[in-house]
Amino acid sequence: MLATMSLSARRLVIVSGKGGVGKSTVSAALGMAAAGRGLRALLIEVASQERMSLLFDQGGPIGYHETPVYPGLDAFSIDPEKALEEYLVSQLKVRAMVERLVSNRAFGHITAAAPGLRELVTLAKIRQLVDRGRHDIVVVDAPATGHGLGFLKVPRNFIRVTHTGPVHARAVWVAGLLEDAERTAVVIVTTPEELPVTETLEAIADVDGQGVPLAGVIANAVFEPLFEPGDGEALAAVPAGGDAGAAAAAARTRIARTADEAEQLARVRRCLGVLPFLFEPRLDTAAVAGLGERLARL
Ligand SMILES: Nc1ncnc2c1ncn2[C@@H]1O[C@H](COP(=O)(O)OP(=O)(O)OP(=O)(O)O)[C@@H](O)[C@H]1O
Ligand SMILES: [Mg+2]
Repeated sequence: MLATMSLSARRLVIVSGKGGVGKSTVSAALGMAAAGRGLRALLIEVASQERMSLLFDQGGPIGYHETPVYPGLDAFSIDPEKALEEYLVSQLKVRAMVERLVSNRAFGHITAAAPGLRELVTLAKIRQLVDRGRHDIVVVDAPATGHGLGFLKVPRNFIRVTHTGPVHARAVWVAGLLEDAERTAVVIVTTPEELPVTETLEAIADVDGQGVPLAGVIANAVFEPLFEPGDGEALAAVPAGGDAGAAAAAARTRIARTADEAEQLARVRRCLGVLPFLFEPRLDTAAVAGLGERLARL
């Protein structure tokens, strides 16, 4: 399903992709871009990664609550254990029993017995935060996908294997938002390299026709072309050795890299935007805000 509505018109934008491609950076950039348009935005990170506390120089963890991180932008770090405890309290209404359940490493046993439960409770918490309506848009920095968009398929899997009961109902409720193309958009981040692009194309093929409202792909950390066509020949004529030779070799490497990246980018269909590689030792809030400006029209 190709969703064509703009991202900022959605209630929920889920940013997915392979490990290390820039999901957290792009999520923060999208959140800042939305805030820049005057929307009240919430940035959610999952599995208590606390990546956002570093990105926004929080001076402490974001934690399992709304924390203002930038004008118009709040962040929330979902700890699945806390989300499960909250859910069990709402279901069981017996606090002491819940506390026993979630202490003593019982949580590990519960989640081991029900694969995907961690993801389901996380997604249910996300839906609760969306439904609460305190924010116009919620951007989720989803977990790294080793195998396609597995995280997003969790509710469907639960619906398939449970036929009634509270877990089934919870999965139906979560899928109701996740699969609603009016309210939800999924974005996949990739770098312009062969393996991430291949995995991105596989992830798209994997979710096609399965109700996941895929908006498209954002290519991140792309080398901007520094040279003009024809510069390659001029550089090839520079004799090796010395400073000029070394500079020419570096320039040729850069030209080759840009050409490789262009080849990989050409494979990406549904490309929503391209973000440059920023040559900075550490991407700070201002740098990410700059990336957000590049995404402002999305
Ligand atoms: N456009 C960019 N230019 C330069 N560096 C970047 C860019 N985007 C991300 N990075 C850097 O690359 C590293 C990985 O980025 P990020 O943490 O956003 O990736 P991720 O996909 O969230 O990783 P993980 O899978 O570990 O959660 C970080 O050090 C980040 O600062
Ligand atoms: Mg991350």
